[in-house]
Amino acid sequence: MKGLIISGGKGTRLYPLTYTRAKQLIPVANKPVLYRVIEALKDAGIEEIGVVVGHTAAEIQSALGDGSNWGVRFTFIQQKQPEGLAQTVQISRDFLGDDPFVMFLGDNVLQGGITGLVHDFRRNEANAQLVLKEVSNPSAFGVVALDERGQVQRLVEKPADPPSNLALVGIYLFDATIHAAVNGLRPSARGEYEITDAIQQLIDGGGDVRAHIHPGWWIDTGKPLDLLEANSLVLDELLPTIAESAIIQRSQLDSRVTVEAGAVIEDCVIRGPSIIGREATLRHCYVGPFTSIYHDVRVEHCEIERSIILEHSQLENLPQRLADSLIGRYAHLQPSGEMPRALKMNLGDFSTIWVGATR
Ligand code: DAU
Repeated sequence: MKGLIISGGKGTRLYPLTYTRAKQLIPVANKPVLYRVIEALKDAGIEEIGVVVGHTAAEIQSALGDGSNWGVRFTFIQQKQPEGLAQTVQISRDFLGDDPFVMFLGDNVLQGGITGLVHDFRRNEANAQLVLKEVSNPSAFGVVALDERGQVQRLVEKPADPPSNLALVGIYLFDATIHAAVNGLRPSARGEYEITDAIQQLIDGGGDVRAHIHPGWWIDTGKPLDLLEANSLVLDELLPTIAESAIIQRSQLDSRVTVEAGAVIEDCVIRGPSIIGREATLRHCYVGPFTSIYHDVRVEHCEIERSIILEHSQLENLPQRLADSLIGRYAHLQPSGEMPRALKMNLGDFSTIWVGATR
């Protein structure tokens, strides 16, 4: 069994962070989502992994290397334009051969991994195994209608009028019959070669397509709020550790706080679940639950809650608690000591800030 990670695309919904970084490399609980995908594949015994890359190919290749860090082997497959998930299968044919494979969208996080799914697929010898999750906003996803016996009847991509509340999770298991299906497609109304259309072809041709409704959580980290939610869910499951080289003085850390190597924490109160990255420095801070502070960040005299702060950023003397926020790399947040007393900003394109609360 092989793995196929889909790691191209533009990530426009995560601007401005994805102007300068591949969205799959944005960390959740201080680890890039893509690394979590690789670990899920490796845990399921899959070591031969194709990685479809787009315009961020160089960045992804340099972050992943040859796979030896994880005990897997990567083959990078270049997609010229993000023209659809079915196209990613098409261009991966040489790598996949006729082997069965797991296709895993590089921005998806699934509670509990995929070991059970891979095991079931091997045992059932179906043509495809889908993963479904009940959601409150099915129109944002591929949606599946099941018949009364629980068999997959119909799939439709981002429907205005969804036939069910069962969304397609971005993890699909296929045997070699999918290749004929992806080859016979026309672009959809949104101009993409849709994997949902290819799966519908399998069904229409009498293929054995099964569905598993996932009981745990699943997050597609496509939007900022999804990232914060994924961060909270993953932190909640993290086994807390305090690195030996961390320096912690005059501080209160509760039992669900992880502190990575070389971090310095002085005169702070830190509530878990939260994680403080390597070589980060925190002085006179309150860090509340569901916060991930990545490596080499400096925070002094601030209160932060349910937020992600990316590497090398500096936050000082904030007049209010920062909450529900996503701060990119090398950002500076500080009060201005100079006249005029005003909000002063130097914001990147497509940034959003919320200043104070409306009454
Ligand atoms: O997350 C689950 C959903 O993923 C499913 O419910 C949908 O059926 C499926 O179409 C997909 O929808 P999204 O709108 O989330 O797909 P998105 O365009 O965001 O692409 C998913 C990932 O695949 C993302 O990391 C970018 C990458 N990608 C996407 C396309 C279309 C590529 O690398 N190449 C592509 O051509």
